[in-house]
Amino acid sequence: MLKRVVVTGASSGIGAATVRRFTELGWQTVAVARRADRLQQLAAETGAHPVQCDVTDEAQVAALAAEVAATGGAVGLVNNAGGALGTESVEASSNDDWRRMFEVNVLGLRSVTAALLPVLPAGAAATGWASILNLTSTAGHAAYPGGGGYNAAKYAAHAVTEVLRLELAGEPIRVMELAPGLVHTEEFTLNRLRGDAEGAARAYADVTPLLAEDVARVLVGAFEQPPHVNQDLIVLRPVAQSSVFHTHRGPLAPRG
Ligand SMILES: NC(=O)c1ccc[n+]([C@@H]2O[C@H](COP(=O)([O-])OP(=O)(O)OC[C@H]3O[C@@H](n4cnc5c(N)ncnc54)[C@H](OP(=O)(O)O)[C@@H]3O)[C@@H](O)[C@H]2O)c1
Repeated sequence: MLKRVVVTGASSGIGAATVRRFTELGWQTVAVARRADRLQQLAAETGAHPVQCDVTDEAQVAALAAEVAATGGAVGLVNNAGGALGTESVEASSNDDWRRMFEVNVLGLRSVTAALLPVLPAGAAATGWASILNLTSTAGHAAYPGGGGYNAAKYAAHAVTEVLRLELAGEPIRVMELAPGLVHTEEFTLNRLRGDAEGAARAYADVTPLLAEDVARVLVGAFEQPPHVNQDLIVLRPVAQSSVFHTHRGPLAPRG
């Protein structure tokens, strides 16, 4: 079996960069998202197999798994589809926003994983191994004011990853988590701030953040490790960000 990996949230940002990086290293990819036009562009560029799928819709996720199985199977899954909505306090935020964040970051991750788990063992039988990597966030490891539903959802995604690794013990399937800090992608902060482009620009002003390509390089590197190596948790931050509370604005300068 050729190396073939399913990447959710592939229509933009980290997911699209991940498909490009896998392609550079000779992997076949299945690119998953809701916006078919963007997936078609990525497919034309990379040869990815595009599948339009809303990961919060269980029927669509079942169809995704069937299509993956019917078109060559997979030895890898990247659960990357996700995002944040709002920066309001716990008191001022809404259950509607929290529900949407849980649906995509937690339930979608669970649905896609559950649907593909019957597919991955065939890949593992053919190649000796398979991999699952969940994109969480430093927001899944440190709470901050206004983090509310996003913190809660990413902490939950972290917990699900830990549970899965325990449940799959004894199978040749490694379970990994990549938790990035500040990444400048086109849509993430814009969506979080409900279209406030000035606010989104402020988040990245005078700072050198990670780029989607940086995250993709490290992510795909984890898949390229020898099969017995499991990078349980990779925390990736820009040098300018030493914690969720400390982002250095302005140039970085050596002392003295
Ligand atoms: N940017 C950051 O600073 C940062 C930091 C840490 C972690 N992360 C995490 O990294 C992941 C990617 O972030 P990003 O910055 O690349 O964000 P992004 O550019 O907004 O990408 C999110 C992707 O998820 C897809 N998506 C959203 N809802 C979906 C659904 N219901 N079904 C299927 N696909 C869905 C979107 O595509 P469609 O709209 O076409 O469906 C899009 O391709 C997310 O899980 C995010 O929480 C981001």
